[in-house]
Amino acid sequence: MPVQSLFPTFVYTSALQRANPRELNRQLLKEGRQLREDDPAGRRWSAKNYPGGYTSYGSCHRLQRISPTFAALERKLQRHVKAFTDSLDWDLEGRELAMTDCWINIMARQAAHSLHLHPLSSLSGTYYVQVPAGSPGIKFEDPRLDRFMAAPPRKADARQENRAWITIPAAAGQLVLFESWLRHEVAPNPITAERVSISFNYNWF
Ligand code: NI
Repeated sequence: MPVQSLFPTFVYTSALQRANPRELNRQLLKEGRQLREDDPAGRRWSAKNYPGGYTSYGSCHRLQRISPTFAALERKLQRHVKAFTDSLDWDLEGRELAMTDCWINIMARQAAHSLHLHPLSSLSGTYYVQVPAGSPGIKFEDPRLDRFMAAPPRKADARQENRAWITIPAAAGQLVLFESWLRHEVAPNPITAERVSISFNYNWF
Protein backbone atom coordinates (compact mmCIF):
# COMPACT_ATOMS: atom_id res chain seq x y z
CA MET A 1 0.00 0.00 0.00
CA PRO A 2 1.59 3.34 -1.03
CA VAL A 3 -0.19 5.27 1.74
CA GLN A 4 1.51 5.58 5.12
CA SER A 5 -0.02 6.63 8.43
CA LEU A 6 1.97 9.59 9.81
CA PHE A 7 1.41 11.42 13.11
CA PRO A 8 -1.44 9.24 14.37
CA THR A 9 -3.27 10.11 17.60
CA PHE A 10 -3.39 7.32 20.15
CA VAL A 11 -6.04 6.73 22.81
CA TYR A 12 -5.84 3.87 25.31
CA THR A 13 -8.94 2.06 26.57
CA SER A 14 -9.09 -0.91 28.93
CA ALA A 15 -10.88 -2.46 31.86
CA LEU A 16 -9.14 -1.26 35.03
CA GLN A 17 -8.78 -4.75 36.47
CA ARG A 18 -9.57 -8.37 35.77
CA ALA A 19 -11.58 -8.75 38.98
CA ASN A 20 -15.13 -7.44 39.13
CA PRO A 21 -14.89 -3.68 39.87
CA ARG A 22 -18.23 -3.55 41.70
CA GLU A 23 -16.81 -3.22 45.22
CA LEU A 24 -14.22 -0.61 44.23
CA ASN A 25 -16.85 1.38 42.35
CA ARG A 26 -19.29 1.18 45.25
CA GLN A 27 -16.67 2.65 47.58
CA LEU A 28 -15.59 5.36 45.09
CA LEU A 29 -19.22 6.32 44.58
CA LYS A 30 -19.89 6.46 48.31
CA GLU A 31 -16.86 8.68 48.93
CA GLY A 32 -17.70 10.89 45.96
CA ARG A 33 -21.23 11.50 47.19
CA GLN A 34 -19.97 12.13 50.72
CA LEU A 35 -17.44 14.61 49.34
CA ARG A 36 -20.23 16.46 47.55
CA GLU A 37 -22.02 16.77 50.92
CA ASP A 38 -18.90 17.98 52.71
CA ASP A 39 -17.53 20.34 50.06
CA PRO A 40 -19.43 23.66 49.88
CA ALA A 41 -16.53 25.28 48.01
CA GLY A 42 -16.74 22.55 45.37
CA ARG A 43 -20.51 22.91 45.10
CA ARG A 44 -20.12 26.68 44.60
CA TRP A 45 -17.40 26.12 41.98
CA SER A 46 -19.58 23.54 40.22
CA ALA A 47 -22.66 25.80 40.25
CA LYS A 48 -20.61 28.38 38.36
CA ASN A 49 -18.56 26.15 36.06
CA TYR A 50 -20.43 22.84 35.79
CA PRO A 51 -24.18 23.56 35.83
CA GLY A 52 -26.26 20.61 36.99
CA GLY A 53 -23.21 18.62 38.10
CA TYR A 54 -20.71 18.35 40.92
CA THR A 55 -16.97 18.17 40.37
CA SER A 56 -14.21 18.41 42.94
CA TYR A 57 -11.87 19.83 40.25
CA GLY A 58 -11.99 23.35 41.72
CA SER A 59 -11.73 22.34 45.38
CA CYS A 60 -10.43 18.80 46.11
CA HIS A 61 -8.32 17.88 43.10
CA ARG A 62 -5.76 15.61 44.76
CA LEU A 63 -8.06 12.88 46.01
CA GLN A 64 -5.30 10.28 45.60
CA ARG A 65 -3.53 11.96 48.52
CA ILE A 66 -6.44 12.16 50.94
CA SER A 67 -8.36 8.92 50.34
CA PRO A 68 -6.94 5.37 50.53
CA THR A 69 -9.61 4.32 48.00
CA PHE A 70 -8.42 6.87 45.46
CA ALA A 71 -4.80 6.00 46.29
CA ALA A 72 -5.68 2.37 45.45
CA LEU A 73 -7.12 3.54 42.15
CA GLU A 74 -3.86 5.37 41.44
CA ARG A 75 -1.93 2.13 42.04
CA LYS A 76 -4.26 0.17 39.76
CA LEU A 77 -3.75 2.75 37.01
CA GLN A 78 0.05 2.41 37.05
CA ARG A 79 0.34 -0.58 34.74
CA HIS A 80 -2.04 1.01 32.22
CA VAL A 81 -0.09 4.28 32.19
CA LYS A 82 3.12 2.29 31.68
CA ALA A 83 1.62 0.29 28.81
CA PHE A 84 0.31 3.44 27.12
CA THR A 85 3.52 5.49 27.48
CA ASP A 86 5.53 2.49 26.25
CA SER A 87 3.33 2.34 23.18
CA LEU A 88 3.89 6.08 22.62
CA ASP A 89 7.69 5.55 22.82
CA TRP A 90 7.97 8.25 25.46
CA ASP A 91 11.50 8.49 26.84
CA LEU A 92 10.83 9.06 30.54
CA GLU A 93 14.38 8.44 31.76
CA GLY A 94 15.58 10.63 34.61
CA ARG A 95 12.22 12.00 35.68
CA GLU A 96 9.04 10.50 36.99
CA LEU A 97 5.67 10.65 35.29
CA ALA A 98 3.47 11.19 38.35
CA MET A 99 -0.21 11.72 39.05
CA THR A 100 -0.71 15.39 39.94
CA ASP A 101 -4.49 15.66 40.10
CA CYS A 102 -7.41 13.30 40.60
CA TRP A 103 -10.97 14.51 40.96
CA ILE A 104 -14.51 13.21 40.75
CA ASN A 105 -17.28 14.28 38.37
CA ILE A 106 -20.95 13.61 39.07
CA MET A 107 -23.11 14.49 36.09
CA ALA A 108 -26.82 14.77 36.77
CA ARG A 109 -29.31 15.30 33.98
CA GLN A 110 -28.23 18.01 31.50
CA ALA A 111 -24.74 18.38 33.00
CA ALA A 112 -22.04 18.54 30.30
CA HIS A 113 -18.29 18.98 29.86
CA SER A 114 -17.71 21.42 27.03
CA LEU A 115 -14.74 21.03 24.69
CA HIS A 116 -11.44 21.35 26.56
CA LEU A 117 -7.91 20.08 26.96
CA HIS A 118 -5.84 19.66 30.13
CA PRO A 119 -3.16 22.37 30.29
CA LEU A 120 0.08 21.89 32.26
CA SER A 121 -0.20 18.09 32.04
CA SER A 122 1.39 15.36 29.96
CA LEU A 123 -1.11 12.54 30.16
CA SER A 124 -4.76 12.56 31.24
CA GLY A 125 -7.56 10.10 31.58
CA THR A 126 -10.83 9.05 33.10
CA TYR A 127 -12.07 6.03 35.00
CA TYR A 128 -15.80 5.30 34.90
CA VAL A 129 -17.49 4.52 38.21
CA GLN A 130 -21.17 4.58 37.29
CA VAL A 131 -22.53 4.86 33.77
CA PRO A 132 -26.30 4.49 33.51
CA ALA A 133 -27.63 3.27 30.17
CA GLY A 134 -28.08 6.19 27.80
CA SER A 135 -25.48 8.51 29.37
CA PRO A 136 -22.83 9.90 27.01
CA GLY A 137 -19.32 8.73 26.15
CA ILE A 138 -16.23 10.90 25.68
CA LYS A 139 -15.89 12.65 22.32
CA PHE A 140 -12.41 13.37 20.94
CA GLU A 141 -11.63 15.93 18.26
CA ASP A 142 -9.01 15.63 15.53
CA PRO A 143 -6.19 17.91 16.81
CA ARG A 144 -5.54 19.11 13.23
CA LEU A 145 -9.07 20.42 12.76
CA ASP A 146 -7.99 24.09 12.83
CA ARG A 147 -5.73 23.43 9.82
CA PHE A 148 -8.30 21.77 7.63
CA MET A 149 -8.98 24.92 5.53
CA ALA A 150 -10.30 23.53 2.21
CA ALA A 151 -10.29 19.87 3.25
CA PRO A 152 -13.40 18.12 1.93
CA PRO A 153 -15.80 16.55 4.42
CA ARG A 154 -15.49 12.85 5.20
CA LYS A 155 -17.91 10.21 4.05
CA ALA A 156 -20.57 9.23 6.55
CA ASP A 157 -19.08 5.73 6.68
CA ALA A 158 -15.41 6.90 6.81
CA ARG A 159 -12.98 4.63 8.60
CA GLN A 160 -12.41 5.58 12.24
CA GLU A 161 -8.90 6.93 11.60
CA ASN A 162 -10.25 9.38 9.02
CA ARG A 163 -13.00 10.88 11.14
CA ALA A 164 -12.72 14.32 12.73
CA TRP A 165 -14.63 13.29 15.86
CA ILE A 166 -14.75 9.96 17.63
CA THR A 167 -16.95 9.15 20.62
CA ILE A 168 -15.75 6.35 22.86
CA PRO A 169 -18.61 4.90 24.90
CA ALA A 170 -18.29 5.04 28.68
CA ALA A 171 -18.78 1.91 30.79
CA ALA A 172 -18.36 1.33 34.52
CA GLY A 173 -15.00 -0.30 35.27
CA GLN A 174 -13.39 0.98 32.05
CA LEU A 175 -10.72 3.62 31.70
CA VAL A 176 -9.47 5.83 28.91
CA LEU A 177 -6.03 7.48 28.66
CA PHE A 178 -4.93 10.17 26.20
CA GLU A 179 -2.29 12.83 25.75
CA SER A 180 -3.37 15.98 27.58
CA TRP A 181 -3.37 18.20 24.47
CA LEU A 182 -6.13 16.16 22.85
CA ARG A 183 -9.37 18.13 23.03
CA HIS A 184 -12.48 16.32 24.23
CA GLU A 185 -15.97 16.87 25.54
CA VAL A 186 -18.88 15.04 27.11
CA ALA A 187 -22.34 15.80 25.73
CA PRO A 188 -25.17 16.73 28.12
CA ASN A 189 -26.39 13.76 30.11
CA PRO A 190 -29.91 13.17 28.73
CA ILE A 191 -31.10 10.94 31.55
CA THR A 192 -31.91 11.45 35.22
CA ALA A 193 -29.52 8.89 36.70
CA GLU A 194 -26.07 10.22 37.62
CA ARG A 195 -23.03 9.48 35.47
CA VAL A 196 -19.97 9.33 37.72
CA SER A 197 -16.35 9.41 36.58
CA ILE A 198 -12.93 10.11 38.05
CA SER A 199 -10.50 12.13 35.97
CA PHE A 200 -6.77 12.51 36.49
CA ASN A 201 -3.65 14.21 35.18
CA TYR A 202 -0.03 13.08 35.10
CA ASN A 203 2.95 15.35 34.73
CA TRP A 204 6.55 14.56 33.99
CA PHE A 205 8.78 16.03 36.70
NI1 NI B 1 -11.19 16.41 30.39
